[in-house]
Parts: sequence; C-alpha cells; structure tokens
Amino acid sequence: KKPAGAPDAALARPVTKVGVVGAGLMASQLALLFARRLEVPVVMTDLDQERLDRGVGHAHAEIGRLLAKGRISPDKANRLTALVTGSLTKDAFADADLVIEAVFEEMSVKRAVFAEVEEHVSAECVLATNTSSLSVTEMAAGLRHPERVVGFHFFNPVAVLPLLEVVRGERTGDEALATAFATGRTLKKSCVLVKDAPAFVVNRVLLRLLAEIVAAVDEGTPIEVAERAAAPLGLPMPPFVLMGLVGPAIALHVNETLHAAFPGRFPLSDNLAKLVASGKPGVYRPDLTLDPEAVEIFAGG
Ligand code: 3HC
Repeated sequence: KKPAGAPDAALARPVTKVGVVGAGLMASQLALLFARRLEVPVVMTDLDQERLDRGVGHAHAEIGRLLAKGRISPDKANRLTALVTGSLTKDAFADADLVIEAVFEEMSVKRAVFAEVEEHVSAECVLATNTSSLSVTEMAAGLRHPERVVGFHFFNPVAVLPLLEVVRGERTGDEALATAFATGRTLKKSCVLVKDAPAFVVNRVLLRLLAEIVAAVDEGTPIEVAERAAAPLGLPMPPFVLMGLVGPAIALHVNETLHAAFPGRFPLSDNLAKLVASGKPGVYRPDLTLDPEAVEIFAGG
C-alpha cells in the first residue's frame, strides 16, 4: 500500500550501491541493514582509518552475531561481509545511487558533508540524512541539486525497530522521495511521510516525555523512583535506559533543537548537559546498574 502523500512508485530509481558517511554506531547499523536487505555494495567513509575500521568492524561483528544465532546462513554471512566495506575517499561514491549521512548532529557539519559528497556523485544520486531533528530543507540549501535531498530517520536499534520517518524538505523532488519510499520498503521498514518540522514526529513525542522525566529528577526525585513511576506507561525500556541507548549527547541535541523551536514546551536540563560534558555514556553502566557518578550529577553534585 502506498504511504499517504508518497509520490508514484514508478518514479523510484533502482539502488545498486549505497554510500554511508560516518562510521559511528548508527552508521554501521545502517550499513548492515542496507547490505542485508538490498543485497548491494555499501561503502562507508569517515575522517580517519581508525574510525573507519571500527565502523566496518562493528558491522562485520554484527554479521557474525546473526550467523551465530542462525538468523543468516554462512553463505549469506560471507556475502554480507564482502558487501560492507570502507573507503577514506568519497570517490568510492561515484557509482552510488543513494548516500546516507549519519555524522555529528550539527547543521554546518552536515551541510559541509553534503556539499563534499555532491562533488563525487552522479546528478541522480539521492542524498539522505538520518538527522534526529534538524531541518532537511536547510541542509539541502546551497547544493546544486537540493531536490535530491530527503530525510531518512531510523530508530535505534535500527535492525529491530520497524518505523522509518521519511522527510520531504521544501525542495525534495518526487524522484528522490519515491526512491526513499521504495528503498524503505525493501529495508522492510514501515515508512511514514512526515513534515520537515523540528524533530519530525517521533522525537517530538519521545523527547517531551524524556524531558519531563529528566525535569522530575532534576527537581529531586531519585532516578530509580522516576523510572518506576513511568513503568505503567508501557515503554519498552525505562526512560534513562532508553537515553543511554540513544546516547545522552543525541538526546540533549534533540532537546536543544526542540527548546529553540518550542521554548515553553521543552525545558532544558543543566544536569543532562553536565552528563554529556562528563563524557559518560548514560546514567546506567552496561550491566544496567546505576553509575554513582552520573547519579551524583543529577543529585546536584
Ligand atoms: N542491535 C541489533 N539487534 C538488537 C539490538 C541492537 N542494539 N538490541 C536488541 N536487538 C535484537 C536482539 O538481538 C533480539 O534479536 P533476536 O530476536 O534475533 O534474538 C531482538 O532485538 C530482541 O532483543 P531482546 O530480546 O534482547 O530484548 P527486548 O525484547 O527487551 O527488546 C529492544 C530490545 C528492541 C531494544 C526494546 O527494548 C526496545 O524497543 N526499546 C526501545 C527502543 C526505542 O525506543 N528506540 C527509539 C529510540 S529514538 C531514536 O532512535 C531516534 C533518534 O533520532 C534519537
């Protein structure tokens, strides 16, 4: 079934090679998803060999886990491993039909990335952004082909969560949008077309909830009490655990974007900013025990 507002599927272009800019955790999840579902070469790029090796390594390790769990055959595992590669230069994108960026959440960084990518790709290549909250329209401004830019917002963990927000910027063309929807369907995602508004739809709802839970903790409710109080809401994981999964820096970034757009509705948290500045990955340690130093930050320490 055609998603509401999606252009005619006949306008979609085939995707025979994918480029991923960035080799962080989100990028490596995306690289694997594209390789697994599209069965096409996926080339990742990053600024240095170490980061690149780590990102490709994450994707390859996940292929190993899928094989060990019996989710994929040894043959498929070998094919996927060969499909996901890394390159330090964006020349590798020359024959890509779709390039997705998953770099630092900063408009100037993303714009610079797209401007550079545009020098290396064909005029038809779709440029997708996995931004959590930034304007797709603004990101496309200044490019030679702004009509090729589309928002492709995945949720963490990418392999598991079924929703994909497809964002139409003011100048996004029907071909790029149709290609995004056709690709999203091949990725087995449930695609929705959303407006290019701050944080789109899901993060607006989610971050409102997280911002209020954080505010309750900032006001003195202990973290574990706030989490227990939120349990009847039926979230798949407690709010602070979710924030650890998303990453406090991303949560703060989306919060700041939403605060700027809707100041009365999205309170900012000094403590969340302090947590990010501390470099901690969250308020829980990997074994899901509270990290006393993070608790201290929220207790005003
Ligand atoms: N990567 C890959 N696969 C993962 C994974 C990960 N990080 N985490 C879990 N999985 C897989 C498991 O391997 C398992 O697969 P299997 O069935 O093949 O064995 C399957 O998911 C279920 O995992 P579990 O049984 O261990 O755990 P749960 O049933 O508790 O589910 C969860 C785990 C799917 C992570 C669930 O807790 C959940 O949905 N949490 C909420 C996540 C969420 O809300 N994400 C959205 C964040 S917002 C965002 O990303 C947007 C951004 O812009 C900020």
